[in-house]
Amino acid sequence: MSAAQKGLPRRPGLFVTFEGPEGAGKSTQIRLLAARLEAGGVAHLLTREPGGTLIGDRLRELVLDSRSRLEAMTEFLIYSASRAQLVHEVIRPALERGQVVVCDRYVDSSYAYQGHGRGLDTAQLRAVSEAATVGLLPQLTVLLDLDPALGLSRAARVNTPDRIEAAGLAFHGRVRQGFLALATAEPGRFLLLDAALQEDALAGRIWEAVQARLPTG
Ligand code: TYD
Repeated sequence: MSAAQKGLPRRPGLFVTFEGPEGAGKSTQIRLLAARLEAGGVAHLLTREPGGTLIGDRLRELVLDSRSRLEAMTEFLIYSASRAQLVHEVIRPALERGQVVVCDRYVDSSYAYQGHGRGLDTAQLRAVSEAATVGLLPQLTVLLDLDPALGLSRAARVNTPDRIEAAGLAFHGRVRQGFLALATAEPGRFLLLDAALQEDALAGRIWEAVQARLPTG
C-alpha cells in the first residue's frame, strides 16, 4: 500500500539506504555520497543502524556485544526496536523537512541476517518490520556485494570481530545470498554493485542513481 493510500502526507525528501556484507566499503561510499550532496548544496542527514538515537546506541551495544547470549528472535527484536526509534525520531522528521536521508543499513539487513542468516520466518519478520517502520521503505537501496571471506578478513584488519562478525563463514554466505535475493525481487529499488570495483567508479554509479531520484523544485 502506498503512502497516499495509507493517508500519510507525501514525503518530499529522499530516503537512501546502504546494505551489504561486512567489509564491503559502505562507510567509504556513504562518505563520498555525502561529499557530493554537500558540494551540490543538497540538505541531507547521515544515520546508521543499529543506533542513531540515544536508545538505539544503547541497543547497539547490547546486540553487538560478544558476551550477549541472544535468541535469534531477541536479536531481531532489538534491531527492530532500534529501527522503530530511528524512524520516528530521526528519519521521518528529516524526510518531512525535505532532506535526503542516507542510512547505513535498514530493514533489508534484518531480512538478510536474521531471515536468511539465522533462519527466522520471513513473513513474521516482514510483519514486525512494517509495524516498526510504519511501512516506510527507501526509494533507493545501494547493495555493495562482496565475497564474505574477503569482507570478513577486511573487517578483521580494522577491529576485533563483534558478535555478528564472529558468526562464521557459512552464516555470512547465507546473508550474502539473502541480499542478492532481495535485490532480484525488487530491481526498481535496489542498485546492485560489485564492491570489488574501484572506489571512484562505485561513487559515480551511486551518484547517478541518487541524482535521478532527487526531488525537483
Ligand atoms: P556495524 O559495526 O554497524 O557493521 P557494518 O559496518 O558492517 O554495518 O554492525 C552492525 C552489525 O549488525 C552488522 O554485522 C550487521 C548486523 N545487523 C543485523 O544483523 N541485522 C540488522 O537488522 C542490522 C541493521 C544490522
